[in-house]
Amino acid sequence: MIIQPRVRGFICLTSHPEGTAEHVKQQVAYVKSKGKIENGPKKVLVIGASTGFGLASRITAAFGSDAATIGVFFEKPAAPGKPGTAGWYNSAAFEQQATEAGLYAKSINGDAFSDEVKKQAIALIKQDLGQVDLVVYSLASPRRTHPKTGVAHASVLKPISQPFTNKTVDFHAGVISDISIQPVESEDDIDNTIAVMGGEDWKFWIEELKAANVLADGVKTVAYSYIGPELTYPIYRNGTIGKAKDDLEATVPVLNDLLADLNGVSYVSVNKALVTQSSSAIPVVPLYISLLYKVMKEKGIHEGTIEQIQRLFAERLYTGAAPALDDKGRIRVDDLEMREDVQAEVAKLWEKATTENLEEISDIAGYRDEFFHLFGFNFSNVDYEADTNEVVEVPSIKG
Ligand code: NAI
Repeated sequence: MIIQPRVRGFICLTSHPEGTAEHVKQQVAYVKSKGKIENGPKKVLVIGASTGFGLASRITAAFGSDAATIGVFFEKPAAPGKPGTAGWYNSAAFEQQATEAGLYAKSINGDAFSDEVKKQAIALIKQDLGQVDLVVYSLASPRRTHPKTGVAHASVLKPISQPFTNKTVDFHAGVISDISIQPVESEDDIDNTIAVMGGEDWKFWIEELKAANVLADGVKTVAYSYIGPELTYPIYRNGTIGKAKDDLEATVPVLNDLLADLNGVSYVSVNKALVTQSSSAIPVVPLYISLLYKVMKEKGIHEGTIEQIQRLFAERLYTGAAPALDDKGRIRVDDLEMREDVQAEVAKLWEKATTENLEEISDIAGYRDEFFHLFGFNFSNVDYEADTNEVVEVPSIKG
């Protein structure tokens, strides 16, 4: 079928199999261009492996360190006349490219929050890898059915005590407007967001992997967090999602205790703001990102997901020494984003930004381009008028 982008708000309903394969290929090429990561991971489980930071983690482990990877994700497979989700096609392309390079790669498509998928992952590790030496936890989800209580928790993106009004952008139309977001109605909003995006599920994974004896001596585990600038604090770091990130970060010492007898260690890495399916959904953030991209590109310090994760692995996690941590015990690869000169310029642009000057003072064009890249569109070497086979399988998943 001929697949064109069909955009609804901050999501794109269609994805292009050849375009997503091109996106994966470019990320693989970047990792290869940086050379091998010495003493990198060899057997890796990535939870949330199909898009964004998780996919970049899988690609970095495989192509930067020749690692065997098992990827867990929740994606819609392709069916005749119905394209699969981007993460489905990404995973198909990843497996194909990894296998061609002689690397083991298998995937599990299902709800990572469930006990069932944890059991499947453990069985697959036992069967094929024995143990894993790195577990990357990179889920971003709006909901979680709790595996013990059966309660369905829905996360919300809200400020906590006061309404928050600031600029936001419709990045497709290029229109800036004011948005007011009402604060949480009750503690339940906070608790539900923590239940979905906090650290409990990460802990469940590590507990179950350990109990099944599938974690290698010296195992590492890492999850991803965000801080960002003061102007997004009310909606991000001091909002409901920030409370969930606090909870995720507070899980690190708990996991360190759990992993101590395996000489294992857990980390949270604070990453840079980037265009992903999840960040596009947060009000205010896309305008901040498009100004940030402008400033960081001008300074020659821009990074995408793959550059971030390659640097995390090569310069933080696998240097042979323990990584430097901030005063709250976190790895920081948002160091370039948070540089004083960068933040000062973004703050100035933020004040100035209007619909009229948006194209000029921000990188909204780059934002849009990256948004479409997430779904396999806007690649100059892909013919979007041509018929393409939408029914692409992830090789390790039997249809
Ligand atoms: P994303 O939306 O690109 O990826 C989410 C992944 O989770 C996908 O592989 C998806 O299939 C998987 N997933 C979602 N629900 C699932 C479920 N129930 N079972 C199995 N898999 C499921 O998200 P992104 O942006 O890469 O986020 C990953 C982590 O990085 C999150 O913790 C996020 O808060 C964090 N982060 C994101 C930043 C950004 O600017 N995008 C910045 C810093 C941190």
